[in-house]
Amino acid sequence: MTIFCLFLAVIFSPVLCEQWSANVVKNLDALVSSCVVVPCTFNYPNEDLPASRLRGIWHHFKSKQDFIYYKDETRVLDSFKGRTKLLGNLGQKNCTLEITDIRNHDNGPFCFRVELAQTEFDTSTKDKYSFVEECVKLNMLPDPPMPTLDSKDTGTVGHVYTISCTVKHSCPSHPPSLTWSRSTEDGVIELHTDMLNGIWKKQSILTFIPEEKDDYSDITCTAKFHGRKTSSAIKTLHVKREENNKHIIIPAVVGISVAVIFGVFCVFIVKRYKRRIAELQNQDGSLWNRLSRLSRRIHSGGPGQFQSEQRVNKVKTHVSTDQKVSKPRFPSPKSQPKACHYKQDLDDGDDYMNTADLSVYGNI
Ligand SMILES: *[C@@H]1O[C@H](CO)[C@@H](O)[C@H](O)[C@H]1NC(C)=O
Repeated sequence: MTIFCLFLAVIFSPVLCEQWSANVVKNLDALVSSCVVVPCTFNYPNEDLPASRLRGIWHHFKSKQDFIYYKDETRVLDSFKGRTKLLGNLGQKNCTLEITDIRNHDNGPFCFRVELAQTEFDTSTKDKYSFVEECVKLNMLPDPPMPTLDSKDTGTVGHVYTISCTVKHSCPSHPPSLTWSRSTEDGVIELHTDMLNGIWKKQSILTFIPEEKDDYSDITCTAKFHGRKTSSAIKTLHVKREENNKHIIIPAVVGISVAVIFGVFCVFIVKRYKRRIAELQNQDGSLWNRLSRLSRRIHSGGPGQFQSEQRVNKVKTHVSTDQKVSKPRFPSPKSQPKACHYKQDLDDGDDYMNTADLSVYGNI
């Protein structure tokens, strides 16, 4: 059709393309008790006329006489008196209609009709047109739509948290108000967006800095529609502490530090004891050195000498019992733990003599 018009426009004149036409939303949700704004534009096959020479009428689809809107309100159906208003400027070919205090029976369809007057005061309009192909049907909503809340799942203490509340509606002349259950002193941004075809979106974006006490607290957004119907949405806040990591890291660091300090202490103690043991072993070592020196000397004398020594011991024991001589020079194994005496005994040089004596005895 557009292409055909363009074709005609090229061949004939642009005037021919200026036909009777209207652009009305076909279906629109309307909240009972609230209002609805029906977007509408129209055109007519004439040069542009001032609003004063245009009569806009909205009537029920059933009859061209059932006016729901007319400039002269006395001709409007009783059930619509005082409830309809032409928001659009007819001079701008805008026939947008507002119906307030929506009632259950306001379904429609409602159609637009325009009459062109010869003069401003002419009542006998010659050109008139009802755009009965372009009518709006209203879908009655007994209950308001619920707002939707959108935000991050979890907030952080001390960090900006943003939550938005959105509700759709069809009453841009009296948009719903959105209120929050918590203080909005930190800042609220409100947006009102045309979603086209009569649907609008009201949005409230709340920004605040959560505290620790906000965890598991509910935040409510309430939409109050024109006509006092309300709906609300609740979200439970989840706020995490920023120090969460510190709570894990600090005890871990403390634990590791304590372990390291204890470890170092243990190593120190062990080293100290080792040194002490080494010192003791060195003392013992001198003993052992002497013992081994002695042992070497004995062995260098040959096994015979050792045997003789044993024999001598026996003999000497015998002798001592007989002759009641002094104690044996070699201490019995029982007396060995008395290392000092033993050492002294070994040191005192008597041994040579003793051994010699014993050898003598042994040789006997
Ligand atoms: C028609 O008028 C309404 C109400 O003033 C306005 O919101 C809308 O934007 C207008 N439409 C056009 C196409 O100018």
